[in-house]
Amino acid sequence: MHYARFAGFVAIFASLVLPASGWADGSNSLMDLSPDGKWLACSNRDSGTVTIVDLASRAKLHEVRVGAKPEGVSFIGSTDRIAVAVYGDDRVRVVSAATGELVGDVDVYDEPYGVVSDPEGQRIYVTLDYPGRLVEIDARTLSITRETPVGSFSRGVAFSAGERRIYVVDYYSATMRAVDADSFQVVDEWPASSSDNLARQITLHPSRPKAYVPNIRSRVSAAHGQGSIFPYVTVLDRGAGDGKRRKRIPMDAFLNNYVTANPWEIAVSPDGRSLFVVFAATNDLFACDLIDDDYREIGYRGRIQLGANPRAVRVARDGRTFFVYNALDFNVVAYDTQSLAPIATIAVTENPLDEQVLLGKRLFYSALQPMVGLRWISCASCHPDGEPDSRTWRNPEGLRNTQALAGMAWTHPIHWSADRDEVQDFEHTIRGPLMQGQGLVRGAVSESLADPNKGLAPSLDALAAYANSHKFSFSPHAKGGLTEGARRGREVFYSSETQCVTCHSGPFFTDSKPAPAAGRVRHDVGTGRSDRTEILGTAYDTPTLLGIYRTAPYMHDGSAATLEELLTTGNPRDVHGKTSGLSSAQVADLVEFLKSLPFEDPIPEAVKAGRTPVGP
Ligand code: HEC
Ligand code: HEC
Repeated sequence: MHYARFAGFVAIFASLVLPASGWADGSNSLMDLSPDGKWLACSNRDSGTVTIVDLASRAKLHEVRVGAKPEGVSFIGSTDRIAVAVYGDDRVRVVSAATGELVGDVDVYDEPYGVVSDPEGQRIYVTLDYPGRLVEIDARTLSITRETPVGSFSRGVAFSAGERRIYVVDYYSATMRAVDADSFQVVDEWPASSSDNLARQITLHPSRPKAYVPNIRSRVSAAHGQGSIFPYVTVLDRGAGDGKRRKRIPMDAFLNNYVTANPWEIAVSPDGRSLFVVFAATNDLFACDLIDDDYREIGYRGRIQLGANPRAVRVARDGRTFFVYNALDFNVVAYDTQSLAPIATIAVTENPLDEQVLLGKRLFYSALQPMVGLRWISCASCHPDGEPDSRTWRNPEGLRNTQALAGMAWTHPIHWSADRDEVQDFEHTIRGPLMQGQGLVRGAVSESLADPNKGLAPSLDALAAYANSHKFSFSPHAKGGLTEGARRGREVFYSSETQCVTCHSGPFFTDSKPAPAAGRVRHDVGTGRSDRTEILGTAYDTPTLLGIYRTAPYMHDGSAATLEELLTTGNPRDVHGKTSGLSSAQVADLVEFLKSLPFEDPIPEAVKAGRTPVGP
């Protein structure tokens, strides 16, 4: 970030409520512009690279391999260095924009997502999605100076130089918190409503005391295409005291109820007059006027169609150009901020995915036909990047907690009730009340457990190939190997007393296997009876335990908030393994073991046992 150029601007507005907190670049994004306007940097999640673009020639300068699933990028102060949150590798890596070389590497425990720096370029602030932490890194020595818990699944982060505060936002709750940059403690909180969801970014207004968060609302009581998911820009008032509040601006109320889906990022122009928001499922952008009025806040100015799955937007320092990152077209497009006309398209990386997986991924992220009729929802609204949305939906079958898709190719059949045996069965979801799309197949499809739907349409097979491509990732709880407690917990897990392993068996900790309908293995473990809307019976498919350290709430109906609860008050009659005889120390050990999964790659053992993953 760089404030000097705006000194005049700052002075004019200095009399407003807050000390000038800086320019919109103090917010996290998957793309950043260098303070001198020379470079653009973007992270390419699928390629595992960061691309640096020379803005004068609008040509790609370097593409640097940084590791698995890079997310946030930020120039460090006014240097040429870029900090990158490498989500899949649990590292923050530093790249030189000038040379395209990796110049630094910091181990940050787990899942770094958002990254910003202070304007002086002395400190880097990083959010850890899991376990919900803010990390401060000394930009010179690249060592961690402080860390603090800031909620859970923390993603968005913004630095206000004027207030000396760091703002963070939780992904699954959209709760915003302020951390004091000196004490490094949470000093204020803006709670959200329970339906607010998937908030991954914070942008600050340069002069008004406002923060903007793009998010969706997941209305779990209505799993249908017209009432479940809504797009919002939430405006939060940063001013202290009674003025503290938040307001959701529905993004479908602007343009004659024109529907957009999955707002992913926001950018505010340097003069604080315009706001741009990209919609990653309807592939469009709203240009909005920021109104200096606490009642209206945002007004509609224009809409443009973008490329596939736009995930980032940034405005240039001179305010004349803005840039959009189209994640599944692998390009950045520059637009004129006034006319909204495209100026240049810059290819930033090659498609690293297999063509079939790319097609499937585009469909999975799309809220347009042939996937969706009314544009509100995409598969990714509930399964963003294959992760769950942390919600329990009232589905036609009964209460259903959204599952993680990690490792699913090895854990078919699918759904809690094993009522589907292949992802191609989701043609029923696409055509049904939830998505109301035309569908990917012409003509009839068979019932989920009858004849295969595989092979009916290349696009449907592609959707399956993408859904089945999500991999398990290692638990951070066993980074140094199993702890003492986890080792004791392992004994408890495999003991004849608890019998956990009778059902949670084999490398994937489940006895469920692809089988004809009649041969499906399901168990009644005492759940499901209290839900009078359950129509598929109270026997469920044994879920894998790999990755459950980050997928609370638990069980098909989300009835257990924690693993402790699941093993104690959640199992009063010992029908879900035998847990009543465990001491509280043994329960704690067992939980520690469960949180350590997976601590080794389950696939070699599965292959040795003759198992194969489901193919596309
Ligand atoms: C409104 C939220 C929502 C949307 C939209 C949605 N899902 Fe799901 N998904 C869920 C829930 C809830 C479950 C658990 C349902 C059950 O078990 O009956 C689930 C389960 C799944 C599973 C099973 C995972 C496993 O391990 O068994 C797959 C695969 C899946 N969804 C794929 C998709 C695809 C493909 C789409 C788009 C066509 C989609 N979902 C759209 C909420 C959603
Ligand atoms: C009789 C088979 C069986 C036994 C024995 C068993 N489980 Fe389960 N387990 C299941 C089934 C079925 C579910 C899903 C129930 C539901 O969704 O309502 C489940 C769910 C779970 C979950 C929640 C996973 C998630 O993603 O929500 C955990 C954790 C778990 N079991 C751990 C254990 C432990 C630890 C033991 C031993 C004390 C154990 N189970 C014994 C069958 C079993």
